[in-house]
Amino acid sequence: MSEAKRLAAEAAIEYVEEGMVLGVGTGSTVAYFIDALGRNPGRIKGAVSSSEQSSERLRAHGIEILDLNFTGPLSLYVDGADECDPHKRLIKGGGAALTREKIIAEASERFICIIDPAKQVDVLGRFPLPVEVIPMARSLVAREIVAMTGGQPVWRQGSNEKGVLTDNGNAIIDVHGLSIVDPVGLEAALNQIPGVVAVGLFARRPADVVIVGGEPPRTL
Ligand code: 5RP
Repeated sequence: MSEAKRLAAEAAIEYVEEGMVLGVGTGSTVAYFIDALGRNPGRIKGAVSSSEQSSERLRAHGIEILDLNFTGPLSLYVDGADECDPHKRLIKGGGAALTREKIIAEASERFICIIDPAKQVDVLGRFPLPVEVIPMARSLVAREIVAMTGGQPVWRQGSNEKGVLTDNGNAIIDVHGLSIVDPVGLEAALNQIPGVVAVGLFARRPADVVIVGGEPPRTL
């Protein structure tokens, strides 16, 4: 699938305009996009990055990292996804960067999502839904998710006893066994649980354009 990811990422370069401040997501597909940007780093003014991982790669290509508080609204955001339905609603957060990704998506006029064909589904939920939580609320949130959805929450493990810690210092719960027939409703309901920082459902603010990598890439 890495070839399909590269093709999707390189097709997204067409949307980048001279002098833009660009929102940049996280993940292996985005890494191809950053590498493509890096072939002509002076073309953009800078990037607002969704993770330390992407910031490091952007800087390595000589692209300046800018603070969203100072840039104002962005015209373009490019990011990958773990799943995409026919309405361009997404599951994201496989790379644990969902909160910053959501902030940048919200701040952007246009969100271009770059995926390989395996990410396309009719109904979201086969990919476990990531939820970023304040560490002390982990068990509480997990119990409420079981009661609310019937899904199975699993604490994402990392290299130590604290599990995976996001760039914001929080934990991730992955919810298995969901079939998300009402993504907008579920996103709103999960956001109400105290301790939830962000839900990896991008339904209220879906992608505007989806590029599916292939020869040639397809645009939805
Ligand atoms: C990170 C994300 C990524 O966009 C998502 O996990 C897809 O990653 P990849 O491009 O490596 O398949 O949401 O939080």
